[in-house]
Amino acid sequence: MNIPLSNRLKACCELVRQGDRVADIGCDHGYLGIHLLRENIAASVIAADINEGPLQSAIQNAGKFGVKDRMTFYLSDGVNSIPKDFDTLVCAGMGADTMISILESAPWLKNAKYRLILQCQSRRPALRKYLYEQGFCIRKETLAKDGRFIYPITEVIYTPSPALSPAQYHITPALLKSGSELLPAFYQMVVDGLVVSVKGLSRTGGEKYEQYKAVLQELKELEERIYGNRC
Ligand SMILES: C[S@@+](CC[C@H](N)C(=O)[O-])C[C@H]1O[C@@H](n2cnc3c(N)ncnc32)[C@H](O)[C@@H]1O
Repeated sequence: MNIPLSNRLKACCELVRQGDRVADIGCDHGYLGIHLLRENIAASVIAADINEGPLQSAIQNAGKFGVKDRMTFYLSDGVNSIPKDFDTLVCAGMGADTMISILESAPWLKNAKYRLILQCQSRRPALRKYLYEQGFCIRKETLAKDGRFIYPITEVIYTPSPALSPAQYHITPALLKSGSELLPAFYQMVVDGLVVSVKGLSRTGGEKYEQYKAVLQELKELEERIYGNRC
């Protein structure tokens, strides 16, 4: 029986180290943890969700795939009700505001012994800026494609580092270093999104308009340096 794991979640799993004790926050169906255990990547998995329905489905699926004995289940808002004895926290499929509120309520995660694997669905630049302001740093970033969507997945660690530039919160140095074959398409997607935002804001102008315009300019210059002029 195959686990229905998306490329997005597979890419999260690829950042988990052999033998890690993993906490999957917002586990929903539980497939990420189940895959990590079935492939003998993780030593153990804490599966947590804020909602009873998804947690029950994770428990059922863990039984179905024969890994229930190596998984523990918690009804928990973020990491508030889980034990702290894990190495890697995975948080996937949530927006920046939820991830920020999870991190805000757990200052104990500001410790280099924890690695965070974050796959954020919305307002990613805001999350990245928050991470750097809080002393976290993006060590690795990769991309995964499901259907027509490309998702960045970041490995984050607590190591106070210099802030990134506004454009680097959209395309990080770690992602540029990744060598991902999806990078040109993702870059274009980010630039296209910014063009739409700048166009929309051009009627009213203001601080946000100027910020987005500057980010777009920086990204276009960077793109020319990396890929040359593609016109
Ligand atoms: C869209 S699903 C993503 C599931 C899975 N991680 C994935 O990426 O496919 C989001 C899950 O996070 C849970 N969730 C939302 N806010 C949460 C929080 N503050 N703490 C724990 N779980 C949360 C939801 O109940 C839901 O099951």
